[in-house]
Amino acid sequence: MWCSGIALRRLQRIGVEVSACRAAGFQRAMSMLPRVYVTRQVPPDGLDILRKSGQVQFEMWDSDDPVPRNELLKRAKGCDGILCVLTEKIDAELLDAAGPNLKVVSTMSVGFDHLSLDELKKRKICVGYTPDVLTDAVAELTVALLLTTSRRLIEATHEAKTGGWGTWRTQWLCGYELANSTVGILGLGRIGVAIAERLKPFKVKKFIYTDVAQRPELADMIQAEYVSFDEVAKQSDFLAVCCALTPETQGICNKNLFTKMKKNSIFINTSRGGVVNQEDLYEALSTGQIAGAGLDVTTPEPLPTNHPLFTLKNCVILPHIASASYTTRNAMSALAANNLLAGLRGEPMPKELKL
Ligand code: DGY
Repeated sequence: MWCSGIALRRLQRIGVEVSACRAAGFQRAMSMLPRVYVTRQVPPDGLDILRKSGQVQFEMWDSDDPVPRNELLKRAKGCDGILCVLTEKIDAELLDAAGPNLKVVSTMSVGFDHLSLDELKKRKICVGYTPDVLTDAVAELTVALLLTTSRRLIEATHEAKTGGWGTWRTQWLCGYELANSTVGILGLGRIGVAIAERLKPFKVKKFIYTDVAQRPELADMIQAEYVSFDEVAKQSDFLAVCCALTPETQGICNKNLFTKMKKNSIFINTSRGGVVNQEDLYEALSTGQIAGAGLDVTTPEPLPTNHPLFTLKNCVILPHIASASYTTRNAMSALAANNLLAGLRGEPMPKELKL
């Protein structure tokens, strides 16, 4: 059902007895508002912003599971705006189904590999996304995943629970420490900087990074040295992947990278599964080419439970939870809502993706 909560509440507050005739007028006024489809139950802050704006009528897929594609194609028809999450492909088919009214797509994510940017640009549709507000949460989770992987915490709790904990042993469950290590960052952006800032107090010796271009303004913040792709692979004791998934980064973490990495190195990916060739990663982990991997993202998602990577003790897999704190998810939904409303007013969005 289409609703604009504030308009309704205003009427209720002033105690108006909505006569059949006034109700009809109200419905008419409502139907003049821009129509928005929200593709998922989003956290409350974003919904409140939409409701209280009185600026849009919106319909929401009222579930925590993704909207079926057919339903999405149907519901998008005639909409002025779409607020989506990263599981919805916003491609030519969807944009055709939505039709010419569509002015704004606002995604509740920093990643935008689910959006066909060329199609959006061609149709002059503005795109909002949610950088910055999730940087702390993602950096925090990346550090947690890195330590969990390098200090073998999952194996350790499993042993403790299942009777593997015998006597104290000198080399049992030994892992790798951050002190005096070299940390490499593949794709230095806000999140990479935030990860390095958090790792620094662990006495990391050196930060290095590689990217399509050097980022001196960011590198200075963490005293990171720019090196080539090969050197980041060769020198890193810990390699954190922070780059966006683009045609250029698709599958760049492959045999070529893993074979150059040190045998005691730990590979961490909290960006997108698509940057990794998972067969090559499996090979590298199972043959001892690298020591361990922590993945918050995979291809596909969810990763089937019978996937070979799940059989490896030295691979820790999380279900894409890097930004999953209540504060951050609320902030993401609020920013997505504000982006959407600004775009529909024809104003610059708080965080607009430059197409
Ligand atoms: C994003 O926003 O793109 C993350 O992957 C999910 O929080």
